[in-house]
Amino acid sequence: MAEFRLPKNSRITVGKTWPRPEGATNVRKFRVYRWNPDDGKAPRVDTYFVDLDTCGPMILDALIKIKNEIDPTLTFRRSCREGICGSCAMMIDGINTLACIYGIDEVKGDVTIYPLPHMPVVKDLIPDLTHFYAQHASIMPWLETKTNAPAKEWRQSIEDRKKLDGLYECVMCASCSTACPSYWWNGDRYLGPAALLHAYRWIIDSRDEATGERLDDLEDPFKLYRCHTIMNCAKTCPKGLNPAKAIQNIKKMLVDRMV
Ligand code: SF4
Ligand code: FES
Repeated sequence: MAEFRLPKNSRITVGKTWPRPEGATNVRKFRVYRWNPDDGKAPRVDTYFVDLDTCGPMILDALIKIKNEIDPTLTFRRSCREGICGSCAMMIDGINTLACIYGIDEVKGDVTIYPLPHMPVVKDLIPDLTHFYAQHASIMPWLETKTNAPAKEWRQSIEDRKKLDGLYECVMCASCSTACPSYWWNGDRYLGPAALLHAYRWIIDSRDEATGERLDDLEDPFKLYRCHTIMNCAKTCPKGLNPAKAIQNIKKMLVDRMV
């Protein structure tokens, strides 16, 4: 997990200010975090000026324009441009969110863009999500069954399917976990809001037959109980989900099964 950590005591410095586009009248300033593990230099913040009259409306449009027309070394992840792949999560104007569905006009003044906080950085705006994905894998994010598979498909009533609403929409962007102070402090052992939301998604699935094992695994002082209901997760989730509520539901199920 620590593979990409910055050198000790490294400070973020003021980086390069790129020229303003000539003749443009509708220009916005973007201040973007830069760090290259290969050049041995401290991280810096570069300043770019983007002509909004020739740019799409989203933060990701501006980043793509910067990369295509100003500075091809700027590095970030993106794929779908639709808010469904989760790959473009970053901290924009102090908020963890998806760059492709966050409008430039939602930011007042200069636009500051940093990688998701408290994660090792691979380069520029790309966090290392290896540990985050390993935690997701640890909750068994699949349908676990013991009875023989049906001839055609596992059936589910409309009511039971509805219980997955607000859970299945998660795009694993990591905005919530990296906004959570408990995850900052104990991310090595606390699973964090994203993995726990997924854990609940499978616990509550009427077709799943491993509910007891799933709850046993979560009954742990760190994996689950480091959640202190700070609610940053729900506040920041770009898909409008509420991981804190899912965590509360797991805690309640653990209490209910004791009585
Ligand atoms: S719950 Fe929301 S913020 Fe967290 S990983 Fe899923 S989509 Fe991203
Ligand atoms: S590019 Fe896929 S969520 Fe933003």
